[in-house]
Amino acid sequence: MRTRLIASLAAVGFAIVSFAPSAVAAPKSYTAAQVAKHASASSCWTIVGKGVYDVTKYVARHPGGSSAIKSMCGKNGSAMFSSQHAGARSPARTLASYRIGKLRA
Ligand code: HEM
Repeated sequence: MRTRLIASLAAVGFAIVSFAPSAVAAPKSYTAAQVAKHASASSCWTIVGKGVYDVTKYVARHPGGSSAIKSMCGKNGSAMFSSQHAGARSPARTLASYRIGKLRA
């Protein structure tokens, strides 16, 4: 009985330890230098406005072609994105779904 109680307390403790950090984790932020390390189609991060996006999985899916996304990899893609998609809801929503954090100054 006592062993079982200890076992369940241990299980609860383990659950708290393993789930709590992700639940309370601060929003991630990345520097432009960190983004620059992901400058290829196999790992493609980009900055748009104040956000950082991992668009690796979108390279091959973009309706406007993969080269448009590849040209943003590792860079600040704000101008490229807005020159093509300013004000359009669908590209903005798609972009938001790839957000991994914000840009650290
Ligand atoms: C991560 C950034 C981008 C996202 C999330 C994105 C998203 C999208 C989406 C959702 C569409 C379909 C729009 C619709 O059917 O209403 C689209 C189309 C298009 N995009 Fe992008 N886009 C991005 C970057 C770019 C860039 C940098 C360029 C060019 C410099 C570009 C050029 C185009 C073009 C030309 C189309 C039209 C394709 C067609 O309908 O024939 N996109 N994009």
